[in-house]
Amino acid sequence: MTSIVTLTLSPALDSATSIARLCPDAKLRCSEPRYAPGGGGINVARAIHQLGGSALALFPAGGPSGQHLAELLAAEGVACQTLPISAWTRECFNVVEQANAQQYRFVLPGARLSESEQTQLLTVLAGLPALDYLVISGSLPGGIAADFIPRLLQIAAQRGARSILDSSGEVLRQALDIGGLFLIKPNLNELRALAGEHIDEPDQLFKVARSLVDTGRCTAVLVSLGPQGALLATRELSERISAPTVNKLSTVGAGDSLVGAVTLKLAQGASLSEAARYGVAAGSAAIMMPGSQLCRRADTDRLFAWLQAHTAAGELD
Ligand SMILES: Nc1ncnc2c1ncn2[C@@H]1O[C@H](COP(=O)(O)OP(=O)(O)OP(=O)(O)O)[C@@H](O)[C@H]1O
Ligand SMILES: [Mg+2]
Repeated sequence: MTSIVTLTLSPALDSATSIARLCPDAKLRCSEPRYAPGGGGINVARAIHQLGGSALALFPAGGPSGQHLAELLAAEGVACQTLPISAWTRECFNVVEQANAQQYRFVLPGARLSESEQTQLLTVLAGLPALDYLVISGSLPGGIAADFIPRLLQIAAQRGARSILDSSGEVLRQALDIGGLFLIKPNLNELRALAGEHIDEPDQLFKVARSLVDTGRCTAVLVSLGPQGALLATRELSERISAPTVNKLSTVGAGDSLVGAVTLKLAQGASLSEAARYGVAAGSAAIMMPGSQLCRRADTDRLFAWLQAHTAAGELD
């Protein structure tokens, strides 16, 4: 079986609660907290699990919060491998203010990895029994060595794995400069930041995405466009995939659901074009779920069938 490994460098234990009204200086009595696993690659692995596949979530874990995170994943049936680290895994805190249904998301910095922990993480990755797809998703904690990403991508290449990156800023830029990535999944803002220019028109968008592919930095670019769906650029094709109209409950988890679904379909041998459509279906399926819940398989399959029947007209060349 094709093996998928997701790597999360800044995992999180997410807790969610609600409060009648936020106000300063008072004791703010919150409702019973609910805990959930968090962090890009971890959610990608969870989305793959929801869709009936399996992926190994690899991440550093420290302290009781790291232990709790691993237990939550095990309870969901998601396979994980942790590297014990000395810093405690971060906790992120979501608060809904009931008076106006506003959500406040407090995101703490990821737990730092010492240089030797970074090396150990790479050693674990290099020693995994199987590695066909490596999904690197999420932000980086402070203190990551300048040669970490190059070493990481080198291991993936040596293992013959396809690397998929969903990150932004310097990590994305550095990884693209190294070249050889299989797929990147920026959203529009992340692509704009990368290109250093304001991209508005679909033509500009295709040009920027295509130039990344044509210069050999990656095999494919999948730009997610929120309610507008996504754009796929490879050497052979440029394709616009419209998102189906769905009942929107929460946009949290859409990007991770998309990446999980794309990876799973690719691992099952599908083309990039078909995998991208499955990804858009999963992203839109995640929108239909409340809070931070990811895509459900039944919704994803139904939306995918609809997209398969309706996307031919969206193809550009
Ligand atoms: N309002 C919406 N209606 C339908 N589908 C949507 C909507 N918003 C997002 N999606 C779906 O989710 C996918 C990913 O969304 P988006 O482009 O917002 O990713 P992202 O910015 O990476 O998200 P995240 O905040 O989770 O990182 C889109 O390609 C689309 O399929
Ligand atoms: Mg995203």
